[in-house]
Amino acid sequence: MKTQLIDYYDTPPEPEDSEEQVLAGLLAAEKTIAPKFFYDEVGSDLFTRITRQPEYYLTRTELKVLRENAVNISDRIGPDSLLIEYGSGSSEKIRVLLESIRPKVYAPLDISGDYLTESAATLAAEYPWLEVRATCVDYSSDFELPFEIDARPVAFFPGSSVGNFSKAAALQFLERVQCLVGEGGGLLIGVDLAKDTEILNAAYNDANGVTEKFNLNVLNHLNHAFSGNFDTDQFAHVASYNEREGCVQMFLESQSIQCVKIAGREIEISEGERIHTENSHKYSLDEFLAMARKAGFQHHECWTDDQDWFAVIFLS
Ligand code: AVI
Repeated sequence: MKTQLIDYYDTPPEPEDSEEQVLAGLLAAEKTIAPKFFYDEVGSDLFTRITRQPEYYLTRTELKVLRENAVNISDRIGPDSLLIEYGSGSSEKIRVLLESIRPKVYAPLDISGDYLTESAATLAAEYPWLEVRATCVDYSSDFELPFEIDARPVAFFPGSSVGNFSKAAALQFLERVQCLVGEGGGLLIGVDLAKDTEILNAAYNDANGVTEKFNLNVLNHLNHAFSGNFDTDQFAHVASYNEREGCVQMFLESQSIQCVKIAGREIEISEGERIHTENSHKYSLDEFLAMARKAGFQHHECWTDDQDWFAVIFLS
């Protein structure tokens, strides 16, 4: 579909598949909701607000690394590229690189169709020389680009979103990206590095309560998408670093015994029971690069900040 400024391809997950996944997670012995369900329009907006909280160092640190090294990074990508951004959200980070890369096509991918079309159209208006092809897709699934372009594919996956996959799923994701970009292609990826627990715990428990709202909003999204009746007042936001797993874990903790209806099923939840909503892995550089090699990437170049909190890595 051609809107005024962008080409838009709508390939969202089948509602039945999502419903099945939600029910399987909520009926499991240890209840889970997959983090992709955070990102309805409200959730995407809340995430953008998280990135502006003083405790959430990830975004501003990554932006600083991108800005300070924009020329070198852009040289690796090149103007003949098809730049595919996974989970583009507000497309904020790519703005740092667009002028210096001048890619042939920018292809943002996101699961939230409304948010994607709005952000992609805003970006296209700001960069009239840029061809924008936006695709609504669950990029964590095995998908194919819905168009073909004669250009060098380079994936961009900023924000340490790779940390939201389990380690096994992260390896599988890197293998899929490697397959999609092929020989000669590349991946520019942002990775949050291991650091002091207090810094991590503060980042996921901001004083303004935006992360709390973001976590609770997943229930509103499920209510809306799958005819549920979760009451967000009956849950509390919990987030802390799990040293053994090497990740910050987020949960919604039930404040009472409750029976919630969703997608025609009843879910019994006891007081104090937790629904696991997210893992956010923090890697050492060596561990991440070993995983990238395992996935088939042979070369790398890394840029980090002064404190080594966040790495931007080009893999090819
Ligand atoms: C998108 N992702 C990398 C964020 C993170 O830090 O894991 C999502 C988030 N969850 C809570 N705050 C931010």
